[in-house]
Amino acid sequence: MNILVTGGAGFIGSNFIIYMLGKYKDVSITNLDALTYAGNLNNLESIKNNPNYSFVKGDICDAELVDRIFSENNIQQIVHFAAESHVDRSIVEPDIFVKSNILGTQVLLDIAKKHWKIEPDDKYSKDYKADVKFVHVSTDEVYGSLGPEGLFTEEMNLSPNSPYSASKASSDLLVYAYYKTFGLPVNITRCSNNYGPYQFPEKLIPLMINNALKGKSLPVYGDGMQVRDWLYVEDHCSAIDTVRLKGVDGEVYNIGGNNEKANIEIVKLIINQLGKSEDLITYVKDRPGHDRRYAIDNTKITTTLGWSPAHSFDEGMARTINWYLDNMDWVNEIVSGDYQKYYNEMYG
Ligand code: NAD
Ligand code: TYD
Repeated sequence: MNILVTGGAGFIGSNFIIYMLGKYKDVSITNLDALTYAGNLNNLESIKNNPNYSFVKGDICDAELVDRIFSENNIQQIVHFAAESHVDRSIVEPDIFVKSNILGTQVLLDIAKKHWKIEPDDKYSKDYKADVKFVHVSTDEVYGSLGPEGLFTEEMNLSPNSPYSASKASSDLLVYAYYKTFGLPVNITRCSNNYGPYQFPEKLIPLMINNALKGKSLPVYGDGMQVRDWLYVEDHCSAIDTVRLKGVDGEVYNIGGNNEKANIEIVKLIINQLGKSEDLITYVKDRPGHDRRYAIDNTKITTTLGWSPAHSFDEGMARTINWYLDNMDWVNEIVSGDYQKYYNEMYG
């Protein structure tokens, strides 16, 4: 099986590649990543010499390059992670979110459709394309914000509130349109907030760990009572693999582990685990348009595909904090910008 992973130098993509190469000996992975500020080849140090792995530096918007990768590697499946992923950046710089997240996805859909020879009237005779699959990795943020009760289900209307989530919702609609119009075998996954090794230290959990370790203030937006539903990254990887193998074409699968926590709870937990003082907490101006609560109903993927998370929140957080403690060099290279010097030397 030849799989194109896009965005494989980012947080979840790199965890996914390591997970897949550890699990399968007969899977070959081509990683296409533009190495934006969020892409870090240090994440893939442990597998970089695996004969079933290759890296291509490039943009998913580059149709010629994507076309060549398909031809040269006989790509049968895509797991599409590449995206601008940080809500705060999308408030400052929405245009790049539209470009990478929407236009980039459309390029991948078109090239997959071309190489997999999908025609509009094929959709009822799928024999020759039994193995091909386009897995679009999306987010629960496309559903918008919940009140104090209720959960996101796959049937809910999309109601995104940030430029980031609006761009992801747009890409979801395009992916679904390629299924409906052309019969492209797609799945859309919508996962809750991830945490774990290799998460860029601009996101809540690694930012708080890094700042607490350095005795810096911990910026909590607004009242800190916003709720997110946290999933350990390896569980997201196993869910995507399950969808890749068993997902019914055209279906959306929510992914989550029933771990709702208020932001302030997470910050205090990190402080306590690291033996630091709560005096580091600083309440700052709220994020504009800040979604109040996300929470996933994972009934569909657990009951129809048999997936369930393997890590409890306590175990996942303990692993994550230990990972950051053991890998402060990884964090410090990012904070100092040195990781980008490494790319520049390697790839110009
Ligand atoms: P990330 O920002 O850590 O990584 C994104 C990767 O994509 C980077 O390596 C970057 O270099 C690459 N990239 C960006 N634009 C590109 C382009 N135009 N061409 C090629 N590569 C490009 O993001 P992440 O947290 O790993 O998220 C991966 C995916 O999962 C995203 O699609 C995101 O929407 C989705 N998701 C993330 C979370 C989360 O909690 N982090 C939760 C649910 C879904
Ligand atoms: P984040 O990790 O950016 O993920 P998302 O916005 O995609 O959910 O933020 C998680 C939550 O933490 C969100 O409610 C915003 C909040 N937050 C802070 O309070 N302070 C911070 O410095 C950051 C980065 C996030």
